[in-house]
Amino acid sequence: MKSALFTRFFILLPWILIVIIMLDVDTRRPVPPLTPRPYFSPYAVGRGRARLPLRRGGPRNQSRPQPQPEPQLPTIYAITPTYSRPVQKAELTRLANTFRQVAQLHWILVEDAAARSELVSRFLARAGLPSTHLHVPTPRRYKRPGLPRATEQRNAGLAWLRQRHQHQRAQPGVLFFADDDNTYSLELFQEMRTTRKVSVWPVGLVGGRRYERPLVENGKVVGWYTGWRADRPFAIDMAGFAVSLQVILSNPKAVFKRRGSQPGMQESDFLKQITTVEELEPKANNCTKVLVWHTRTEKVNLANEPKYHLDTVKIEV
Ligand code: UGA
Ligand code: MN
Repeated sequence: MKSALFTRFFILLPWILIVIIMLDVDTRRPVPPLTPRPYFSPYAVGRGRARLPLRRGGPRNQSRPQPQPEPQLPTIYAITPTYSRPVQKAELTRLANTFRQVAQLHWILVEDAAARSELVSRFLARAGLPSTHLHVPTPRRYKRPGLPRATEQRNAGLAWLRQRHQHQRAQPGVLFFADDDNTYSLELFQEMRTTRKVSVWPVGLVGGRRYERPLVENGKVVGWYTGWRADRPFAIDMAGFAVSLQVILSNPKAVFKRRGSQPGMQESDFLKQITTVEELEPKANNCTKVLVWHTRTEKVNLANEPKYHLDTVKIEV
């Protein structure tokens, strides 16, 4: 009796071992990827669930949230005038690093130059952003201190937008003027994306104050908190508003003007052509948050730069 039990045990033993090994191997198998390319959701990181092994044979990924196709976001068109100077590439680099993090953004970079420069062309080609590269020189007579800057460049950006959308029904879009030296928070883009006609928000470090802002009562703009020329119809910096593409297209003549435009009045002169103060849509929590700063880069000290090229290599800066 005893030997019969032993015999059975020894016959079964290898099978038991095989089953144990099989089970072990199966659970060590690498988990097949959920999607052809790994999908990293910031909300899933660090959650234990994501690390549970998948049950084979069961309905795949049933309990996992699948990446949903994004509903169509309005395109944000950023018009940036830019001109050649020692800090230009640094400014554009900071800007591209911000814009690259914004979904559905189209960068319209307009050089203040008679031709597209190699530096900017190369830069844009590697920027990893949907972009359009334009150029128009500022006439020499307007290149004087005290006169508005970048008038022709912003108008070139507007003309390109109007031309591009000339024949098709306007896709949802929002335009704003992004000078190359300002600092933009990512939250700003979420705010401006919902612009219906013209939206406004505070701007930091401008007008001789820590900030300027539209004053809001019951959801409407009723005035301006500013330290400089409070008589401006729209006492707002270029960085403080966005306009829907629809408004740009339905006001084909609205442009920045040289003639009769006083310093600091460019914004007002432009906005007067497309909207009224009552119509403005306050953003950034009823204009109580600063999401953009009118930073200005210090002029670089090149006092020790040699007159003639001395280095053994030529480096783009
Ligand atoms: C302020 C406003 O914030 C600007 O929007 C406005 O255009 C400007 O005043 C003005 O005086 O017209 P500020 O910091 O004084 O800005 O001006 P910059 O940053 O020097 O220039 C504004 C934009 O125009 C920048 O993107 C700059 O690259 C570009 N720019 C400037 C040119 O394209 N060409 C120039 O000769 C100078
Ligand atoms: Mn500036």
